[in-house]
Amino acid sequence: MIVSTKKLFQHAYGKYALGAYNINNAEQIMGLFRGNIDSQAPFIIQISRGARAYTDKLLLEGMIKSAEQIFPKAVFAVHLDHGDLESCLDSIKSGFYSSVMIDASDQDFKNNVSITKKVVKAAHAKKITVEAELGQLGGVEEHIAVDEKDAHLTDPEEAKDFINQTGCDSLACAIGTSHGAYKFSGSQAIHFDILKRIQKLAPKFPLVMHGSSSIPQDEVKRINAAGGKLGGAKGVDENQFKKAAKLGVTKVNIDTDGRLVWTRVHREVFRDQPEVFDLRGPGKIFMAEYAKYIVNKNKKLGSAGQLPKVRKFLGKK
Ligand code: G3H
Ligand code: 13P
Ligand code: ZN
Repeated sequence: MIVSTKKLFQHAYGKYALGAYNINNAEQIMGLFRGNIDSQAPFIIQISRGARAYTDKLLLEGMIKSAEQIFPKAVFAVHLDHGDLESCLDSIKSGFYSSVMIDASDQDFKNNVSITKKVVKAAHAKKITVEAELGQLGGVEEHIAVDEKDAHLTDPEEAKDFINQTGCDSLACAIGTSHGAYKFSGSQAIHFDILKRIQKLAPKFPLVMHGSSSIPQDEVKRINAAGGKLGGAKGVDENQFKKAAKLGVTKVNIDTDGRLVWTRVHREVFRDQPEVFDLRGPGKIFMAEYAKYIVNKNKKLGSAGQLPKVRKFLGKK
């Protein structure tokens, strides 16, 4: 069942965070649904502009609708990740997305407010929820590579004004994480102080943490042992998610970790079985391994086991 992130956030706020997982293909979709059903978790499926263009946005839509039939008990939101004005309006028009992110965080405050307001107006007219971003994460975002020196953390006072002026439903905050596999070059730091201050100024307002892959070191080792070159990759400590959830983080974005699972599985299969050329062999292993990854991640987020409660909250059996 596709629901708005608003409903999911109402249930989760202050208690746990929802995993927001990026998908690009059928194997990721199957693994994702399987993992969330196995761990009894509500979740958010996210589609980036790159994912929409990879095969075809309609193909992704069709596969997700089919997954909904295969897993009738699943409760999830369909979310556009890092949209611009054009892709937000297109996703809103499609009637398929229950949530969109407008990312105008590379603009100055005034322009960011003005672009975000346009999306909020169009989305709310169709009861679709809007995530916006203030502050800028480092690392590689779609279409933009943000140098660490240009990244800047969210200013809590500005966040309060931004929320009031735009009417957005949730806010992606830059709190020290970054996109991709190489997050913390020095010592790791999620800026809990900033979360605390935002929560004080905007109580009960759902916050979003991007760049939250944990880059499991055993995964990196296995990839490198099978011919990969991922030196120095480092991620977010997943044991900090519950602390962030208490401070208002309701959505935790994860993409890179899923790519690592895919890379490890395929590299190992082709290293160990050089005679293999049937894509279904590694595909099957990937779906099972990705589902396992999701189960463990949901335990860390606190979303595991919440599905029956969320269904009840939504008035469903
Ligand atoms: O934040 C960016 C996400 O990881 C999406 O990545 O644009 O390569 O699909 P992508
Ligand atoms: P990671 O690169 O840490 O997986 O972050 C993904 C993300 O923020 C998607 O919006
Ligand atoms: Zn992101």
